[in-house]
Amino acid sequence: MSAYFDHNATTPLDPRVLEAMLPFFIERHGNPSSAHGHGRAAREAVEKARRQIAELLSASPEEVMFTSSGTEANNAVIYSVAEACGHSGHIVFAALEHPSIRQAAERVAQGGMELTELDPDARGVVGVESVESALRHDTRLVCLMQANNELGTLQPVAEVASMCRRRGIPVLCDAVQAVGKVRVDVQALGVDYLCLGGHKFHGPPGIAALWVRSGAPMGSLLVGASQERGLRASTENVPAVVGLGEAAELARLELDDRHRRLSALRDRFEGQLKDLPEAVVHCADVERLPHTSHVALLGVSGHQLMLWLDQQGFAVSTGSACHSGKPQPSRTLLRMGVSEPEALASLRISFGLTNSDDEVDRLVEALRRGVVILKDEVSVVS
Ligand SMILES: Cc1ncc(COP(=O)(O)O)c(C=O)c1O
Repeated sequence: MSAYFDHNATTPLDPRVLEAMLPFFIERHGNPSSAHGHGRAAREAVEKARRQIAELLSASPEEVMFTSSGTEANNAVIYSVAEACGHSGHIVFAALEHPSIRQAAERVAQGGMELTELDPDARGVVGVESVESALRHDTRLVCLMQANNELGTLQPVAEVASMCRRRGIPVLCDAVQAVGKVRVDVQALGVDYLCLGGHKFHGPPGIAALWVRSGAPMGSLLVGASQERGLRASTENVPAVVGLGEAAELARLELDDRHRRLSALRDRFEGQLKDLPEAVVHCADVERLPHTSHVALLGVSGHQLMLWLDQQGFAVSTGSACHSGKPQPSRTLLRMGVSEPEALASLRISFGLTNSDDEVDRLVEALRRGVVILKDEVSVVS
């Protein structure tokens, strides 16, 4: 297997999480809505996981609901707010939000809501002043992620939320990339909605959680029976919920140690890039996630380099999407003013707890070789 440097895409399940989940597939199976012993045990397991997540976020368990994904959580908040205000009014969101925010906002705009999309500055951060100047008397929601998935930049969520709170405007914070990497405290952030997703911090895929401040508008995407206090019909995925709870507890207990280990890997990597003249590390001077490095290798196609590294045994990501075989530059980079050639030359390296110093050193060595080989190819073609 290749050395894996794409932990913002997904992380491996922690074996301790798997161990916690396994009994709930067979011996301890049960439907939490059943009144018999199997059901009651499953209900207890779900409520324990809810408490574990609440503790990670400094929240009350009653304010935590389970969803299938970060995407579902983000969609659910935007659709609920739109419904609560009769599909009229205004939503503000940052251009660097995940598509599950942007596209949900675009969908409610088709129903009559108005949108303002805010560009990040050249450092990959959305300014508090730019949010303030976008607010209107009819603004119903502001969406600002805690940490960006491509660049890793941390956003001024607490400042924005405190400004919005004074005006009675709720704030949705997508913390999918932040949880397990930096402290996420809903009270300190002062937001109204916050989501996290299991597979980004060594929990299982297909399970996520949404924290909703008591009293904030919230409806249901799925209707049917009355699970999750009527907010999300469908039988709970008990093993996954248990895994999410365990991953949350481990993240809470190990946060400082993980932060130290991950930032050491990133700093080792970026330190060695200093003598590679083609390398430009994006957003190096702002507060970032400890494990995310976004780098342009000037003169080389990031997409080609990613494919070449894959052949050499390294899994990394490009920020670009590939449509009809043609790589497209990252929207986020363009919106912060990075040129198209530089955006197309970019790679995202996201480190994880199982990466070693040796893997990092080998990745840098491979990058050096890849840049030489692919630059030559570019000059032969041109
Ligand atoms: C910032 C952010 N929000 C939301 C999501 C969507 O999460 P999920 O994969 O659980 O739908 C992602 C996934 O990459 C993400 O990075």
